[in-house]
Amino acid sequence: HNHIDHATPDKVRAAIEAEDTHAHIPDYQTLAAYRSEGGYDTLARLRDGGDWEAVQDTVLSSGLRGLGGAGFPSGKKWGFVRANPGPRYLAVNGDEGEPGTFKDRYYLEREPHVFLEGMLIAAWAVEADRCYIYLRDEYPASHSILRKEIKALEEAALVEKGYIDLRRGAGAYICGEESAMIESIEGKRGIPRHRPPYVAQVGIFDRPTLVHNIETLYWVAKVCREGPEILSTVDHNERKGLRSYSVSGRVRNPGVHLLPAGSTITDVIEAAGGMLDGHSFKAYQPGGPSSGLLPASMEDIPLDFDTLQPHGTFIGSAAVVVLSDQDSARDAALNMLRFFEDESCGQCTPCRVGCEKAVKLMSAETWNQPLLEDLCQAMADASICGLGQAAPNPIRSVIRHFPDEL
Ligand code: NAI
Ligand code: SF4
Repeated sequence: HNHIDHATPDKVRAAIEAEDTHAHIPDYQTLAAYRSEGGYDTLARLRDGGDWEAVQDTVLSSGLRGLGGAGFPSGKKWGFVRANPGPRYLAVNGDEGEPGTFKDRYYLEREPHVFLEGMLIAAWAVEADRCYIYLRDEYPASHSILRKEIKALEEAALVEKGYIDLRRGAGAYICGEESAMIESIEGKRGIPRHRPPYVAQVGIFDRPTLVHNIETLYWVAKVCREGPEILSTVDHNERKGLRSYSVSGRVRNPGVHLLPAGSTITDVIEAAGGMLDGHSFKAYQPGGPSSGLLPASMEDIPLDFDTLQPHGTFIGSAAVVVLSDQDSARDAALNMLRFFEDESCGQCTPCRVGCEKAVKLMSAETWNQPLLEDLCQAMADASICGLGQAAPNPIRSVIRHFPDEL
């Protein structure tokens, strides 16, 4: 490993800081406000002789799972990364690109320091040499807030200058795939790598890298400060913990709704103020376009990790979109495939060609179902990454649940 000084150069930093983003900056909790109520005390206590394995146990016993969407047990990753010799890095995935997902932005625009403290606790736990935050550029307010607050952390000597490197995404959905994000951080075109090796072994500049989503780190801080019970004792429909559902579509109050993890779509719609006047509930996307669509009749399923698998889908990042009798499931699925066609990185044929063919077949007046089903199988089986593997889900869900529209 050749040492590369990949800190953002001072003059680039200065140019970014000088940039007027014209963003509307919401009221958020500043460093002073956070510290006045005990913020960063947990980090200070841990840095002063804390036991990382005890913290890992706390995180594991809370049941916290990766909230980017994959639900991998968060504490387990720390052990994987530590099993490899340093230097190690931490990369925060803030490229929140799954359509309908906006929970990371929600937390960044309100309590950025809860997330930042969680990040620094995780970085301490794996002895990371540097933290990279890869944030989508479509969030100008979050960028401004983080730029300002990272500087405040440096000035307060809570981190060394340059220890946290805030990077701007450039609008590519695929750069939210962790290995594509790492390629992008390294300054290359963002395309996914083959797995294994996992990024815990071979990540940024080939070094072991801990990758966490923004909201996951937010809960790391909460759990370390308030105890694992804040998640482990929340019990609903035999599921444990909390989920931040990003709710949009035909509901009265779209937005982020923090609910027990076992909430059903009925609970979610109720929390979002019910259906819009004149609309009756027809279908829902449980977790981003990659999860396809479910019919209103499947309203009793707890929307949590693992519970949707028997129905051929998953909760992912909990991006719930509610459709009504005025929407077409078939049109919605076509829209999703157009998105995947645009966002496919083009590296592998089943996804690059498959998405394009699927859009053509789905645009025909009558779907050629046997051909579409074959295409779905090839894409799911042979694509390199999750984008191509999950892109068939909207097609399959329409064939399965909305045959009347075909
Ligand atoms: P994955 O299950 O393959 O991996 C999840 C995490 O666990 C990764 O960090 C991976 O490195 C780690 N991991 C898994 N097995 C491991 C092992 N044996 N050793 C070491 N580390 C291991 O899932 P993936 O492909 O990373 O993410 C897919 C999810 O991302 C989907 O559920 C989808 O909903 C979500 N997603 C979220 C978006 C958003 O905007 N939040 C955008 C697009 C997708
Ligand atoms: Fe790129 Fe699609 Fe292949 Fe993923 S599945 S590597 S997005 S072409």
